[in-house]
Amino acid sequence: MKKILVVGSGLMGSGISLSFAKAGFDVIVVERSEDDLQRGMDMMKKTVSSLVKKEKWTDEETGQIWERIHGSTKLEDGKDANLVIEAIPEKLPLKQEVFRELDRVIQKEAILASNTSSLSISAIGSVTHRPEKVVGMHFFSPVPLMDLLEIVRSLKTSDETVEQVKAVGKHLGKKIIVAKDYPGFIVNRVLVPMLNEAAYLVMEGYTPEEVDQGMTLGANHPVGPLRLADYVGIDVLLNTMESLHEGFNDSKYRPCPLLKRMVEAGLLGKKSGKGFYSY
Ligand SMILES: NC(=O)c1ccc[n+]([C@@H]2O[C@H](COP(=O)([O-])OP(=O)(O)OC[C@H]3O[C@@H](n4cnc5c(N)ncnc54)[C@H](O)[C@@H]3O)[C@@H](O)[C@H]2O)c1
Repeated sequence: MKKILVVGSGLMGSGISLSFAKAGFDVIVVERSEDDLQRGMDMMKKTVSSLVKKEKWTDEETGQIWERIHGSTKLEDGKDANLVIEAIPEKLPLKQEVFRELDRVIQKEAILASNTSSLSISAIGSVTHRPEKVVGMHFFSPVPLMDLLEIVRSLKTSDETVEQVKAVGKHLGKKIIVAKDYPGFIVNRVLVPMLNEAAYLVMEGYTPEEVDQGMTLGANHPVGPLRLADYVGIDVLLNTMESLHEGFNDSKYRPCPLLKRMVEAGLLGKKSGKGFYSY
């Protein structure tokens, strides 16, 4: 694997592109428009300078990154890529449309991966003629710093594809877990219901500070669940809880009504200036 196509250069796509380029891969990153591409490139520059400033990455390591990353607005420009990683918004019809197009334009031997955090890899792969080469590569934010890569295999993903993406993940320096294709995979299946339960406690009258202190001091979590919910985004959290609820058809995943009200009121967490805390 030498050449990687990343589709989307938002928060995740830009982090994924940087991590691959730093590990020596040639990266082509594709966006919808020149403006979106410029925004993505600017975000990557900011991330690199902040990582160097914080001494997480060295100037030496990052020197060649910019020679390895190329931008485009056409998927065809990545047609000879060995691996594609899609990181566009979390909407199944949007992802399926892109996978249909990728299947048409990208060489037949290439693996097509999605960075989805909750959608079915089986449903994404079903629109292609190579479902055995469609797999989930779920990176965590911020990608350059987070050690985990969750690989998700659909009912049709082949062993060979899983082994190939494992090797790529190891080359990036990630620790790997392989998840089955059910809502939430492994990490969000455990994490998101915990954040949802913390919201229930606030609905019952506890303060966010009390709940967070309980979990930071009593369970040794580095950040409390409600602070984390604010960082993730209350809308994103509600969305993931709804997909667990629908996907398993199990009332134990019922989304907390307070989360619904917060989303309706525009209290989306850090990004909107207010969630469980004010920013
Ligand atoms: N944000 C997180 O913490 C996180 C963590 C793990 C996984 N994910 C998943 O990663 C994916 C991307 O999330 P994000 O937070 O980076 O979103 P984002 O909104 O920051 O970025 C999405 C990017 O995709 C681009 N885009 C949209 N349609 C496109 C198309 N047809 N072709 C090319 N580019 C297109 C947008 O212009 C945007 O730059 C989602 O599936 C999300 O669930 C997110």
